[in-house]
Amino acid sequence: MSLKEKVLNELEANRGESFSGAQLAKTLGVSRTAIWKAIEDLRKDGVEISAVTNKGYTLKSEDNSLSAEGIRAILGETEYDIHVEKTVTSTNTVLKELAKDGESAGYVLIAQQQTAGKGRLGRRFYSPDKTGLYLSVILKPKLTIENALFITTSAAVAVSRAIETVSNNEVKAEIKWVNDVFVNNKKVCGILTEASVDFESGGLEYAVLGIGVNILAPESDFPDELKNVATSVFGNSRQENIRNRLAAEILRELSRLPENFMDKEVLNEYRSRSMLIGKNVFAVSGDKKDPCVVLDIDDRARLIVRFEDGSEKALSTGEVSIRMN
Ligand code: BTN
Repeated sequence: MSLKEKVLNELEANRGESFSGAQLAKTLGVSRTAIWKAIEDLRKDGVEISAVTNKGYTLKSEDNSLSAEGIRAILGETEYDIHVEKTVTSTNTVLKELAKDGESAGYVLIAQQQTAGKGRLGRRFYSPDKTGLYLSVILKPKLTIENALFITTSAAVAVSRAIETVSNNEVKAEIKWVNDVFVNNKKVCGILTEASVDFESGGLEYAVLGIGVNILAPESDFPDELKNVATSVFGNSRQENIRNRLAAEILRELSRLPENFMDKEVLNEYRSRSMLIGKNVFAVSGDKKDPCVVLDIDDRARLIVRFEDGSEKALSTGEVSIRMN
């Protein structure tokens, strides 16, 4: 661990409390100048540390930077190996490469921002700096490819629970089949699970679960094409240490899910959080948009819809858009 990381560890363990340079230097066995330099480097990274004569350095309680040290300070003992980077192309893309090279389950990569964030169906995921959370984790569940959908559906439940917990239940999270979490009828989170399959057994070699959450309003707002469909969980309201808190809570909820992600209770919660059941929607496939009504989500997490000619279908891929009539 670098000195910068060690200093942040100390400050994160006691957010809001002051440490003198001499105290930190003694604890970490380095000079005061080395501590001063580490503090300057942390500030350059955007960590809000105040320095008061005769009191020392304080990590401001309202600081909203994102760091592995900050997440660990909240989580305590964890099975996750957490890494935070400033900028990556896509945390999913990076982790797929690592998983291919044999990296273990539980490796978590979080980015402050992504330059090529990916969404489902070949779309981009808007991933600006400072206001979002872009988190991927390597999983190696004993699952066949047909059941891989349960990773996404269970993760949607985990994220919904985490959002509600960090908001002290002031925010209500709903799920739009199959991979989106909504707040106030707009999308705040997208989930992308990418898997590699062993063709002989039909089982998963590994999966990379990627979660992107708009936590606060982006500094330069959402791009025009997203303004009507996307929002952030907390908008411009002041939230202390919210990126670390939400990342920790999501990891905590993910670790509580059953190992193979197939669980009746989690699926029931997914259903009860569904904003689509009973709604008139369009089943979208390529350029085709078929009007239908959503009847239910079945035990395989498929969306059961009835078309206008009375025929019914279980959808396991593609997406639906909500009709206003
Ligand atoms: C969607 O909305 O269709 C899914 C969006 C998934 C975004 C997350 S952000 C972390 C991970 N890295 C990516 O490039 N995508 C996922």
